[in-house]
Amino acid sequence: MPVHRIGVIGGDGIGPEVIAEGLKVLRATGVDFETVDYDLGGMRYLRDGTILPDDVLDEWRGLDALYLGAVGTPEVPPGIIERGLLLRMRFELDLYINQRPFVYAGPPVTVGGGGAVDGSAEIDFIVIRENTEGTYAGEGGFLRKNTAHEIATQGSVNTRHGVERCIRYAFELAAARPAKHLTMVHKTNVLTFSGDLWDRTFAEVGAEFPGVDTAYNHVDAACIYFVQDPGRYDVVVTDNLFGDILTDLGGAVSGGIGFASSANINPNGVSMFEPVHGSAPDIAGRNLANPTAAVLSGALLLDHLGETDAADRVLKACAATAHLTGSTTELGDAIADQL
Ligand code: NAI
Ligand code: MG
Repeated sequence: MPVHRIGVIGGDGIGPEVIAEGLKVLRATGVDFETVDYDLGGMRYLRDGTILPDDVLDEWRGLDALYLGAVGTPEVPPGIIERGLLLRMRFELDLYINQRPFVYAGPPVTVGGGGAVDGSAEIDFIVIRENTEGTYAGEGGFLRKNTAHEIATQGSVNTRHGVERCIRYAFELAAARPAKHLTMVHKTNVLTFSGDLWDRTFAEVGAEFPGVDTAYNHVDAACIYFVQDPGRYDVVVTDNLFGDILTDLGGAVSGGIGFASSANINPNGVSMFEPVHGSAPDIAGRNLANPTAAVLSGALLLDHLGETDAADRVLKACAATAHLTGSTTELGDAIADQL
């Protein structure tokens, strides 16, 4: 295998702490890779005003993957780093798939193309969230701001191209999994324009995948099933806003924030892998953060690079250590020891 080149953005707070453990575990797999470090985030912004230079974006396009801890710090007003770094990265690199696996953190489990190793996991599904459109596209504005007659609109942008490429990715993923089942989540009974586009596109793309069983849930019903009957899900595809909310719910019912991993994918370009949690300023610098979410994000990264065997071994190592408590470095060592 060629050497993989991975851009590393530790970021702020616990970001660098958990990424250090993630890299420790990735090295323990024996996979050959080299890292390129990027000092970005809230602290860098406070130091010299840098958020995300264009030449850094250009460099990223030439790398094999990006591995990010978390960015944002209380000293920087909200929105500056989120929009200027995270959202800008998402749009500029066209990371149109947000993929989050949800597995019950107890018994041996697997993600990606795999499914449950021993069939004992009650929760084993993946949410595919459209990551570039919908209500996050920035459509809308104010009229008569700060007056009694103020109007604010925030539209949902849904293009056939954007919806179709997301749904197609979800079908391809479902087709590669043992259960071969895909659920679309939306609110087609009320959102009759965007919902109609999603509905028709789902049916049309689905015709290309006769081996994949499909289902549809309204998003409010999905909130019930995520909690009461998560076993019904294999792959779920949904829009940007519903996906944002549903994936937090998914995390809450499958082990919590210390285990939630994610991938921001451009199937034709560089992709970014990060734990779902933020920089956790309340516990930063004290060796207290659970590094498992960052390590599991590293497993998604390995899987994406084609290192599927190493990815699987990292997942098994995390499952074997999920019951442990300890410091950030102790847990990182324990996971690495399993490898
Ligand atoms: P947070 O996820 O950083 O923290 C929420 C709570 O979960 C805190 O009590 C924290 O201690 C705990 N927590 C988070 N990760 C943990 C871990 N690995 N182990 C143990 N406990 C953990 O969310 P919060 O507080 O809303 O945001 C803090 C900063 O992080 C903000 O500046 C925010 O903008 C940023 N953020 C960045 C993200 C990113 O880089 N993708 C995502 C979410 C938030
Ligand atoms: Mg969120």
